[in-house]
Amino acid sequence: MTSPTVPAASSPIRLCGIDDVLEGCALKVEHGGTAYAVYNVGGVYFVSDDMCTHGPGSLGEGELYGDIIECNFHGGQFNVRTGEVAGPPCMVPVRTYKVRVDGTDIFIEP
Ligand code: FES
Repeated sequence: MTSPTVPAASSPIRLCGIDDVLEGCALKVEHGGTAYAVYNVGGVYFVSDDMCTHGPGSLGEGELYGDIIECNFHGGQFNVRTGEVAGPPCMVPVRTYKVRVDGTDIFIEP
């Protein structure tokens, strides 16, 4: 009898340094062919997919209002803590990631 193959745990991904994302701002970061949006909400960092679920907008290039990111394309909004839709025309939540700050670096768990 053989044991089921367990996939190896993925390593955390370093996206950027804490100084790269100013307080109250968002930043688009690309890693391994995927674009992420990193947010600084009062010194606490959150990460989501960069691409808006409504279309081609970049959330990392949007405007951050508290913990709400406004897409730069049609103005749709998401809560960066949860990924939930906060304003139309978006209807589908955006994927968020578990964030870990280690020293001056921001990592996500893939
Ligand atoms: S592409 Fe983001 S709101 Fe339309």
